[in-house]
Amino acid sequence: MRAYFRLFQFIKPHLGVFGVAVLCMVGSTILNGVQVGAFIPLIDRVANDRLLPTLAWFPGWLNGLILWFNSLPQRTLVNLFAVAIPLLFLFKSLLEFLQTFFMSDASQRVVRDLRQKMFDKFTALSLDYHHRQPAGSTMSRIMYDTGIVQNSLIEGLTDLVYQPFQIAVYLAIVLRINWALALMTFAVIPLIALITLWIGRLLKKYSRQAQVVMGQLHSTILESITGIQVVQAFQMEHDARVKFASTNERSYRINRKIQKRMNLLTPMTDFLGAVGASFVFWYGCRQVLAGTMTLGTFTAFFAAMMFLIRPFKRLAKLHSVNQQTVAAALRIFEILDVEPTITEHPKAKTLPMFRHEITYDKVSFQYDNQPVLRGVSLTIPRAEIIALVGPSGGGKTTLANLLPRFFDPTSGRVLLDGVDLRHVTLASLRGQIGLVTQETTLFNDTVRANLAVGNPSASLSEMVEAAKVANAHAFISRMPKGYDTVVGERGSLLSGGERQRLAIARAVLKNPPILILDEATSQLDAASEHLITEALERVCQERTVVLIAHRLSTVRLAHRIVVIQEGRIVEQGSHEELLKTSALYRRFCELQLMHPTAKLGESHHMPRDL
Ligand SMILES: Nc1ncnc2c1ncn2[C@@H]1O[C@H](COP(=O)(O)OP(=O)(O)OP(=O)(O)O)[C@@H](O)[C@H]1O
Ligand SMILES: [Mg+2]
Repeated sequence: MRAYFRLFQFIKPHLGVFGVAVLCMVGSTILNGVQVGAFIPLIDRVANDRLLPTLAWFPGWLNGLILWFNSLPQRTLVNLFAVAIPLLFLFKSLLEFLQTFFMSDASQRVVRDLRQKMFDKFTALSLDYHHRQPAGSTMSRIMYDTGIVQNSLIEGLTDLVYQPFQIAVYLAIVLRINWALALMTFAVIPLIALITLWIGRLLKKYSRQAQVVMGQLHSTILESITGIQVVQAFQMEHDARVKFASTNERSYRINRKIQKRMNLLTPMTDFLGAVGASFVFWYGCRQVLAGTMTLGTFTAFFAAMMFLIRPFKRLAKLHSVNQQTVAAALRIFEILDVEPTITEHPKAKTLPMFRHEITYDKVSFQYDNQPVLRGVSLTIPRAEIIALVGPSGGGKTTLANLLPRFFDPTSGRVLLDGVDLRHVTLASLRGQIGLVTQETTLFNDTVRANLAVGNPSASLSEMVEAAKVANAHAFISRMPKGYDTVVGERGSLLSGGERQRLAIARAVLKNPPILILDEATSQLDAASEHLITEALERVCQERTVVLIAHRLSTVRLAHRIVVIQEGRIVEQGSHEELLKTSALYRRFCELQLMHPTAKLGESHHMPRDL
């Protein structure tokens, strides 16, 4: 019930469109009633030439209409009906069209809003959520679950309003004509309800399974497509296909189960409907033969009864559809209810422009009970370039990620000019930090658009300036459309070095006082490395820089070098000092000289805990 109520919150803003649809439904239902009522004059007056009775409880206009029918010759009445019937159908069809149109419009709007809300939520959720949730499951929640809600909203909303209307109109007719017979026939309704509830319960269960499998399907597709090169290089195509086939097969089986249950409902309710109908036929015919009911009245009763079956069947089906909707809606709300772990303090202040120093104060951090940083204390004065070096997995990226508050320390504090990051707004904090991540992220858009991420209001000349600083201008100019060249998904049309320089240009364009440069560990040739080092040298000037370095050439840019191993600062000092005092650092330099692209702790000649 809660799910319905919350879904209704999404319908609320579109109640206008919904209202128009309902009005059309009321109109078309009344015309349906007129259509059934028309059997009485058509059969009794025209076919059997009997005078129609006026009744005291009829409204005046209806009795007037009856008297008018009685006064007309049969032939005129036939002509009249020949014209009136198509007109009636024309109006009814028009209203039905409008009702369907507005109803689907309302549901499309609801789904659009739901999708937007979910997307907004996903972009607001903190990194830890995204690291845990596979992208495929996220995709399938936004696309598949909202799709289910959309389908059932069109059907569901229409039926929810339309069918009770129909039931009311036809019920009024049958009860007026012969209430005793009507009530006897309704004995089949509890049976239909029982079957419906049973099938609904099954569907809810299967719908949940279908969603899980859909998430796995999405994941498998995303993984294989984004990693297609590795898939092909390692000849994993067959394995990937087999993996996909087995998930695909599971999805097929669950959906088949769902379809089977759904479609079982119709024949079962049909059969019960037929039992009711044959009872009405048997009983009614005997009354017509005994002369206690006219043929016209019986026909109208029978027709209304037949028309009553459909709405009941639709409502029964609606219940099944709803079970799937509720399951999907609950999954949607589950996401909407996730709170980001990184939230702004209600009284968060705007961080003033960075002036003095960044301080890590006894910072510890763990991912899911796995300690990564252990009591790190570090002060970085303004305009210092500090290099973090150390074995892979030591916690360098994690340490840097605490600065833009992608995560909060498990204990200890990170301060900027003495202000705890948890007490300032995210916008004012992140606005002062430029970030070049270890894996370069570019968007499938033009060079210009990718640069504009750094500063949306930058002019082209400013972009060119930034690209020149980052040694990216030359290669951008050589591309077919220059700054308007599309770089492909995640920058796949560029080389690794070009991607990095574009990412550096983007950070430069933002012109932040603090820069975090997480050097890519991918191998670069000497020329490319030189271009990047040169770019970094220019970029670092007059800024406070946290430089996570994997290459000796980059380390040399730093004023101070901090060696991090297993989540602790083990040494720090200048290049010369460390060469004298730190065996770990010396090893790093030697390795770099021997194999310029090697990383500390990755050589099998050297134990990791040197
Ligand atoms: N999202 C995550 N969830 C759980 N553990 C993580 C996550 N990210 C990193 N880790 C773990 O934290 C440790 C430190 O990772 P981090 O990325 O900070 O290392 P690093 O020093 O930057 O290494 P590299 O030089 O290879 O980039 C590693 O052991 C890693 O397995
Ligand atoms: Mg790293």
